[in-house]
Amino acid sequence: MLNRMVGKGSKLVGCGSATPKLSLSNDYLSNIVETSDEWIATRTGIRNRKVLSDGETLTSLAVESSGKALEMANIKPDEIDLVLLCTSTPDDLFGSAAQIQRELGCSKALAFDITAACSGFVLGLITGSRYIKGGGFENVLVVGADALSRYVDWTDRNTCILFGDGAGAVILQATNHDQDSLLGFNFRSDGHGQKHLHAFVGSEDLKEKTYAVDDNGAAFLPSRASPAFIRMNGKEVFRFAVRCVPETVEAALEEAGLSGHDLDWLLLHQANQRILDAVAQRLQIPSERVISNLASYGNTSAASIPLALDEAVRNGKVRPGDVLAIAGFGAGLTWGSAIIKWG
Ligand code: UT7
Repeated sequence: MLNRMVGKGSKLVGCGSATPKLSLSNDYLSNIVETSDEWIATRTGIRNRKVLSDGETLTSLAVESSGKALEMANIKPDEIDLVLLCTSTPDDLFGSAAQIQRELGCSKALAFDITAACSGFVLGLITGSRYIKGGGFENVLVVGADALSRYVDWTDRNTCILFGDGAGAVILQATNHDQDSLLGFNFRSDGHGQKHLHAFVGSEDLKEKTYAVDDNGAAFLPSRASPAFIRMNGKEVFRFAVRCVPETVEAALEEAGLSGHDLDWLLLHQANQRILDAVAQRLQIPSERVISNLASYGNTSAASIPLALDEAVRNGKVRPGDVLAIAGFGAGLTWGSAIIKWG
């Protein structure tokens, strides 16, 4: 029986990540579209990306990353109360969180998906902490996972060089209010910007079959969704990121009662090294305090922040007590940030 006591804090007690086996280098992509390692590396900082192959699925990556997070947190699957899968690319249109719950054996957990593109993980973290704060939940698994390779137009050099697949997970655990690891947050959306970044689901009419005609003689022509392709105006999205990300981080810092100088690490959605550099410069955060792993994985959408966090924790860069600003931005448009304390 849940104790719906309000006012609990959330502690980050575990993390994990998983990426596909198959790695595609910039040189490999230059065989598919007119591009070069030099162009991609200079304009984005990306050198490799990993994509699903050979029976791998989004769910299998999510389960692997979650298993590692549970192990680090020393928590059994049946102690998890809530599984949040932040993704825009579930294996099942109706959501894949419940499959993660099933495969891990989180027998008592509620599970559902959250879609907010590349901002998804930040929103998932905030959502999970609210279930702990006001809902009496004890342990929440937040997974960021995406497989945008399924929706990339591999003939479009403007987008296909950017994206990769991956998964990262964290465990939030209830703690006393004064030990809350979520020190501040800020989140925004603006649907006007959809024209700059989207993956519209098309529709194919099944014209070969007439299903029915209603009393007024109108025919029902069933339609079927056709695959979506990612389309992006890179320049506009770049401008949006460089303008809005510093603002959201500053708003979250203000809520936390902190300034940029108090941050040990800046961990942004891994979209482009030039965006990371520009945002860090605006926030006056030196480059040695900026976490970046996009050279190896490209833009993994909702997975990028927990994937980079997991690497930084496991290689000893991020230590217990360190304060990080994390920020996501992308389709929607959505953007948001959180000031978190690790461990
Ligand atoms: O996670 C969602 C958030 N998404 C993002 O954050 C993406 C933000 N945008 C970006 O990262 C950058 O805008 C890109 C990396 C996508 C593009 O970089 P850019 O410096 O804005 O280049 P551009 O689009 O202005 O293109 C410059 C030139 C063009 O040629 P012309 O018109 O100058 O002759 C492009 O056709 O580079 C050409 N180009 C390429 N050349 C070689 C575009 N893509 C490629 C390519 N290889 N892959």
